[in-house]
Amino acid sequence: MCGILGYVGKGRPFRDLLGGLTRLEYRGYDSCGIAAIKNDKLFLKKRSGKVNQLKKDLSKSLKTVSSLCILHTRWATHGKPNRANAHPHINRESNLSLVHNGIIENFLSLKKELLAKGYKFSSETDSEVIVNLIDSLYTSSLEEAVLKAIAKLKGSFALGVISSSEPNKLIAVRKSSPLIIGLGKNENFIASDVPAILSFTKRIIYLKDGQMAMLNKGSVRICDIKTKRKVAYKIDTVKIKLEDAQKKGYTHFMLKEMFEQPAISTKILSSYSKNQKVHFSGLKGCETFLKQSKKVYISACGTAYHAGYVAKYFLEKHSSLNLEIDTSSEFRYRQIEMGKNSLLIAISQSGETADTLAAVRQAKKQGAKILSVCNVVGSSLVKESDFAIPTLAGPEIGVASTKAYSAQLLCLFLFFLYFAKLKGAIKNKEYQGLLKSLKKLPSLQRKILAGGKDIRRIAKAFSKFGSFLFLGRGINYPSALEGALKLKEISYIPAEGYAAGEMKHGPIALIDEYRAVVCIAVNDNLHEKMLSNIQEAKARKGKILAIISKGDKQASNLAYKSIVIPKVDNTDLNPFLAAICLQLFAYYVAKNLGCEIDQPRNLAKSVTVE
Ligand code: AGP
Repeated sequence: MCGILGYVGKGRPFRDLLGGLTRLEYRGYDSCGIAAIKNDKLFLKKRSGKVNQLKKDLSKSLKTVSSLCILHTRWATHGKPNRANAHPHINRESNLSLVHNGIIENFLSLKKELLAKGYKFSSETDSEVIVNLIDSLYTSSLEEAVLKAIAKLKGSFALGVISSSEPNKLIAVRKSSPLIIGLGKNENFIASDVPAILSFTKRIIYLKDGQMAMLNKGSVRICDIKTKRKVAYKIDTVKIKLEDAQKKGYTHFMLKEMFEQPAISTKILSSYSKNQKVHFSGLKGCETFLKQSKKVYISACGTAYHAGYVAKYFLEKHSSLNLEIDTSSEFRYRQIEMGKNSLLIAISQSGETADTLAAVRQAKKQGAKILSVCNVVGSSLVKESDFAIPTLAGPEIGVASTKAYSAQLLCLFLFFLYFAKLKGAIKNKEYQGLLKSLKKLPSLQRKILAGGKDIRRIAKAFSKFGSFLFLGRGINYPSALEGALKLKEISYIPAEGYAAGEMKHGPIALIDEYRAVVCIAVNDNLHEKMLSNIQEAKARKGKILAIISKGDKQASNLAYKSIVIPKVDNTDLNPFLAAICLQLFAYYVAKNLGCEIDQPRNLAKSVTVE
């Protein structure tokens, strides 16, 4: 994973560049570093820990102006998060430095060859091999040495390379790991993602896979790494504002992002529906294909997978259609005969998740068409898809996905209404009714957020539990999975999501007075069944926290504590409402425990390695 930032230009103080690096910390934050050309020599500072700590180390040199610089924030793959393994890496003469995002699969054999040539290594990383490999091939041109070196690499890599011997040049390479170029006035940048350079420029080149770029302060040249020929490029102007990637007075990004959900729902509904009809302008060219499509698959990871799972229930309940869903890490290795009439829906916030991209590539090989439901429009996923539905949630910085989830859900519900209508698989009255009820979503979401104080109080009472079981049924089974995921990733409390009906087949053995059991027992066709499950858990002394619909005395009498959501006529809205309750619950539990909410340990926002 990791975040890369690079600069070549008229000169920028370290402080500005470290500010940009901070906005890449969602990609990894266990160690970080900076290498810059200072007085014709290579200056290097790196450490374990976060960019703020590095800033403190550099407090005396924050005003130092650099005209060539590479920076890195790391999510450890090879070697623990310590100073030696932190990037940038340098060669033995300290005149060459490199930052890397990705994994080099053949690094051990390359390392062996380099050791035989007398090279020494001070880290356990695969990345240090690349800098030494470039060194071994460097005669007079850094560009040529990098080209020769990358021809020997197997795996995925986004690289930034500088040398004190060529102090006006920044080299960038992209192969299966994202990298963009930012164009400024008398300065240019490279970065893993747009937010890192938003305060400097909005003019972006999305470097394509298999391309290398040579940047100096006044020009950018891009070539294909195989043919070595110069290629043309397109300059995009990004619309994201820097404020969108800031906390705006909230204590955490996660809290801010949860509170953005009603406004995002309004935006999605107004963008994708008009005159009582769902319409996706981006899908116009593919209506014939969609009409004729035979099989539908969903592939996604983590929270995005849960969104797809909820949407599967929605589609199958309201139409004669069905679909198959799997996590991308499994999907990519399954022997599925997809064929030309298949549609793969890939869901992803970042659009850079390695497994989801691999699943997409696998499906494309078999002739399937790809529809991506994705938040980052410039991402690899969107670029590799045949059609895309942008989820319009704006930058999500908190590692725990919240607003992206509800945006994915709503976009998928709307898409499935559109899809079922196109295929004549839904009755018009049902279509109209569902669309009308989805419009109530923003105000319902607002109500839940307004009741956040009650959830905070309940979370305090539950913070002492050492383990949680989340139970749900039907469309709220994936809600239980998502609730458990949110809690474990930010509070580190072991939490399992389970289909409530499966409880008796094993997990019930775990229930005793020390186990908190969160039951999503909202009003729907399976409500009675959930009540029975609550009884069973309670009989074994489990401490029940029930998510219930307003007015449900039966459930509230059974539960130790209840979180009440509005009673809705269309029960398909329940997963949206339960999600906000469970997000707030996880947030306040983690806050009570003093956890690092936006950047939980061991995680990274975007999982760009397998
Ligand atoms: C959710 O809170 C997680 N951080 C994680 O499960 C995430 O949803 C998953 O890694 C998928 O990411 P993507 O949506 O960017 O593909």
